[in-house]
Amino acid sequence: MKADIDMFRGAYKIPSELQGEVTWQSPSNIALVKYWGKYNGQIPMNPSVSFTLSESKTKTTLKFRPKQKKSVQYDFFFEGKKAPEFGQKALSFLEKATPFLPFISELDFEIHTSNTFPHSSGIASSASGMSALSLCLMSIEQKCNPTISPDFFYQKSSFLSRIGSGSACRSVFGSVVEWGVLDGLSESNDLYALPIQDVHPVFRDYQDTILLVDEGSKAVSSTVGHSLMNRHPYRETRKIQAGKNAKSILEVLRQGDLESFVQLVEQEALTLHALMMMSHPYFILMKPNTLKIIQQLWAFREQSGVPLCFTLDAGANVHVMYPGNDKETVMSWIKSDIVEYCQNENYICDHVGKGPKKLT
Ligand code: PMV
Repeated sequence: MKADIDMFRGAYKIPSELQGEVTWQSPSNIALVKYWGKYNGQIPMNPSVSFTLSESKTKTTLKFRPKQKKSVQYDFFFEGKKAPEFGQKALSFLEKATPFLPFISELDFEIHTSNTFPHSSGIASSASGMSALSLCLMSIEQKCNPTISPDFFYQKSSFLSRIGSGSACRSVFGSVVEWGVLDGLSESNDLYALPIQDVHPVFRDYQDTILLVDEGSKAVSSTVGHSLMNRHPYRETRKIQAGKNAKSILEVLRQGDLESFVQLVEQEALTLHALMMMSHPYFILMKPNTLKIIQQLWAFREQSGVPLCFTLDAGANVHVMYPGNDKETVMSWIKSDIVEYCQNENYICDHVGKGPKKLT
């Protein structure tokens, strides 16, 4: 399907006394097939597929009232304190969203946000943060136009999240989510993500223990990272590979094929890092402990027969993924053999989740 940007331009009358507050909680997500590289307007270079997480979430309250002054008036609070450095990102997002949400220029805002995970953990908060804010904005649109359907509500929330941070568009839906035009998946498109319904029960309860190897801030911002693909020597090969892998992973998720899941997910993680090592300028984002964990994981898989695997974001932390049934075995291995490789022995227990929740 060719999704049309014009379907997201708001054409409705803005009530004169538009005032109130709304709160959404939205999760982060972890890509199985990675989005890496983009065109103008946050259009992905390749399709991607992710698990929505359950425990790593952002809660955002958006307070709004009719505009008092002509200039943009908004205040941004992170974990109860004024945070202009984060606010700058929110402001730039609101500006980009205004053509699709005309009420933005009629209102003053106060944004209160907090994460369930520590800010310094190296967990990207852009997916959970941008999706939570987009869902809040859509709740305001719903007040202006109560006739919008639930499908449209979530599609447009995903569309807006994408403008804020590409991968955020996948956080609007639960469990397994696809984003980007994919051959053979008729509703797939580049403008918003698609929840995948046909998923084997083993993956509905998949576990993701995030080993915090490096709690510092990101060495390479995703903006810089994506731009490395513009003139990458393997650009075209990567596009083809990602398309094939996205197709394969959806089949693997449907069938519950754990062996192929392990192979595909690890290949994608290592491809992401290999692409970065081969770009100009080049980066190594793994740390020595990232490699130690991967080697230990492979040895443990061989010896125990547990089908666990790893994936990586654009950083040094390791996501260890495994079926819910193996939780006890894997957690006791992590506690006895692995936690020493984590900074401050820190890790986060997460699992596949159902998606965002409206709180007020
Ligand atoms: O959404 P961004 O621009 O932060 O990019 C995310 C990129 C990866 O996390 C490396 C991969 C992905 O698909 O989430």
